[in-house]
Amino acid sequence: MKYQGKKAVVTGGTHGMGLAVVRALLDGGAEVLLTGRDVSGVDLPAHLLSSDASRLADIDELGAVAEAKLGELDLVFVNVGYATLTPYAEATPEIYDRTFDVNAKGAYFTAQRLAGLVRPGGSFVFTTSVAAEAGIAGMGPYSAAKAAVRSFARTYAAELAPRGIRVNVVSPGYTDTPTMGVTGVPSEVLAAFKETGDEITPLKRHATPEEVAAAVLFLAFDATFTTGADLPVDGGLGQRLTLPV
Ligand SMILES: NC(=O)c1ccc[n+]([C@@H]2O[C@H](COP(=O)([O-])OP(=O)(O)OC[C@H]3O[C@@H](n4cnc5c(N)ncnc54)[C@H](OP(=O)(O)O)[C@@H]3O)[C@@H](O)[C@H]2O)c1
Repeated sequence: MKYQGKKAVVTGGTHGMGLAVVRALLDGGAEVLLTGRDVSGVDLPAHLLSSDASRLADIDELGAVAEAKLGELDLVFVNVGYATLTPYAEATPEIYDRTFDVNAKGAYFTAQRLAGLVRPGGSFVFTTSVAAEAGIAGMGPYSAAKAAVRSFARTYAAELAPRGIRVNVVSPGYTDTPTMGVTGVPSEVLAAFKETGDEITPLKRHATPEEVAAAVLFLAFDATFTTGADLPVDGGLGQRLTLPV
């Protein structure tokens, strides 16, 4: 089995693309510790931890549990994140802070806490977004927080290279997860968001979580000479393509 003997932590592994990565790892024989704010509904042969990525005490506990259950790690998939659809005029300091706390601060300190457990040859993959390099109306704090993640993934790549640990980024476009990466919007707004995504994406559809998972696992285990890189899985959305008329 492809991932036999591998040990992985997946944050935000209870649904969406995190869950797709967890399933692929388990199918391949890996041992996995996954988190979400509420893991009580998860029925998988994995270690489970309810953990809020914005709380430093929870991140510390995640480190302790990872060490106790898994010991050394081959992969840390730092995946937790969410966006709101908030035009600038409606943005509050609370929305700004929470968006940065979950997406950026949580990712940074999760990597800091777990770095010591990753063995040489292991790797980190962070989830950012096509939004990190775009101007998408309503996604100001989210896009900036993901741009921060893209930046500090480069720094982690530099800092961990001497230990033979690679650090890469996957940046999805519109992906068909339960939330489409967006929280706090009515279902009709989410449906319109998804429809817009299908229209503006050059491949004229959204990704499946499994398509993103394939890129994550490629970066994690196959791309053995790739570090500090960003692999878009966006159907061409962020690639400045001009389609035939
Ligand atoms: N879907 C898209 O179109 C899209 C596009 C670009 C980027 N992304 C990014 O891709 C990543 C995964 O998105 P997804 O669409 O797969 O989302 P999802 O289906 O909403 O899954 C998010 C995961 O993170 C967990 N989570 C959310 N907030 C958390 C918190 N504060 N602490 C701990 N766990 C938390 C969720 O579990 P609980 O609900 O149990 O906490 C869940 O396991 C995110 O970073 C997102 O920003 C998504």
